[in-house]
Amino acid sequence: MLLIKNCKVLVGNDFLERNIFVGDDGKVQRIAVAAELKTADEVVNAAGKYALPGAIDVHVHCREPGMTQKEDFLTASRTAAAGGVTTIIDMPNTKPATTTVALLEEKRKLAAAKCIVNYGFHFGATAGNIEEIKKAKNIAAVKVYMGSSTGDLLITDEQALNTVFSSGKRIAVHAESEELIRANTEIFRNVEIKDAAESHLMMRGTDAAKREVARAIELAKRNKARLHLCHMSTKEEAEIMASAKGAVTCEITPHHLFLTAESAGELGNYAKVNPPLRTKEDVAALWNAITDGVVDMVATDHAPHTREEKEKDYWEAPSGMPGLQTMMPLMLDAVNKNRLSLQQLIKLTSGSPAVVFGIKNNGKIAVGMDANITLVDMKEEKTIKNEDMLTKCGWTPFNGWKVKGAVAATIVNGKIIYSSGQITDEKTKGKEAVFNGN
Ligand code: DOR
Ligand code: ZN
Repeated sequence: MLLIKNCKVLVGNDFLERNIFVGDDGKVQRIAVAAELKTADEVVNAAGKYALPGAIDVHVHCREPGMTQKEDFLTASRTAAAGGVTTIIDMPNTKPATTTVALLEEKRKLAAAKCIVNYGFHFGATAGNIEEIKKAKNIAAVKVYMGSSTGDLLITDEQALNTVFSSGKRIAVHAESEELIRANTEIFRNVEIKDAAESHLMMRGTDAAKREVARAIELAKRNKARLHLCHMSTKEEAEIMASAKGAVTCEITPHHLFLTAESAGELGNYAKVNPPLRTKEDVAALWNAITDGVVDMVATDHAPHTREEKEKDYWEAPSGMPGLQTMMPLMLDAVNKNRLSLQQLIKLTSGSPAVVFGIKNNGKIAVGMDANITLVDMKEEKTIKNEDMLTKCGWTPFNGWKVKGAVAATIVNGKIIYSSGQITDEKTKGKEAVFNGN
C-alpha cells in the first residue's frame, strides 16, 4: 500500500486536498479527505503539490531496434519518467520499421525488458502491408507518413492510401505533401543554407501541410476511418481542424508551441524538425486553438538524434528533437503564465490521449484506475539544462530556459520511479497499455 498524503487532486472541476491510497495491485484504491489510520508501507508527503493523472505521450520515437545510438527503450523511459510522463507510445520508423506483426512482437519484447514507464505502439503502414495491418493487435494506431521524414516509411499513391485508410484501424498521419516538399526542396539544392530553421520552413511550407491535411480528411471520410492528425503546426491546419472537429483528432508538440523558425536560428540544425518550426502567427493560432478546445492533446514527437548527427551539414543532418523531459515543465510554466488552466493541461496531457486512443484505466485519478500519477510543484523554478537530460542524445532545444512549475515525482502502476531529481526504481518495468477498440 502506498499513501500519497495531502496532495491536491482534481475533484469535479476543482482541486481539493486529498489522500490517495494505492493498493498493491497498482490501482487507486481510495481517495479520502482524512489520511485515516491505515497502514501504508510507503507514505509520500505531497503537501502543497498537485497530483495529476500521469502524462500520456502518444508520439515518441524510442529508436529501438536499429537506432540505439540515439535512444533505446530504457533511456527513452528514463527521460519520460523525469518528465512526468507515465505512458509512451512508440513510433514505427525504426530499423527495421514496425510493419509486420512479427516485428511488432520483437519490439514488444524489447520494450517489456527495458521500459520503466508504460508503453504502447503505433504500427507502420507501407503500400503493401495491409494484411499485416489487419492482423496487428493492441496497437494505438496505424502511422501513415504522407510526407517523408526520418526512415523510409512513405505512402503517396492514392490507391495505396485508400487501402490503408479502409483497414478499420485508427489512422495517425504525418501530413505534409511530398510533392510540394520535393518541388520546393529542389529550388534550394544549390543555395548555401545560412539559417537551417528558416530554410527548412521554406522547403516544407504551410502549403504542404494544408494540402495534405485536407487530403487526409478526404481519405478518412471516403473510407470511414478514424483519423488522428500528428503534430498540427500551422494556422491553416488549425482552421481546418476547427471545422472538422469531432470527426478528426489532433495533437500539437511543445516545440511548435514554444519555438519559431525566426527565434530558433541560433540552434542551427538542432532546430531542423518535420514539420518545421513555424512563424509567430502560427504559434499564436495554435495557442488560440488550445483555448478554443480545437486541440485534443499535446504530444512531444520526441525524436532524438545525436549531436554528431546534428552537427553535420544541413542536408545530412536528420530532422527531429527530443521533448519527453521538457513537455510538462514547459506546459506547467505556461499554466503559471495563465496561458491555459491546470484543468486544461490535464486534459491535453492525459485525459484526452486516454479517451481518444482508448487507453484502458488511464487518463484520470479515480478509484479503480491504474495509479499513474505525476506529482508537480507549481512553485518550483528551474533552469532546463542539457546536462540534466536523461535522453541518450543529451541535449534539448530548450537549454537555458527558466521555467516555473516542476515534476516532483512520477508514479507508474503505484511505484515511485522518479523523485526529487532522481530515477528511484529502474528494476520495476512498465506494462503495455491496453487499447480498447484497435
Ligand atoms: O522531425 C521529425 N523527426 N519528424 C518526423 O516525422 C520523424 C522524426 C524522427 O523520427 O526523427
Ligand atoms: Zn514523429
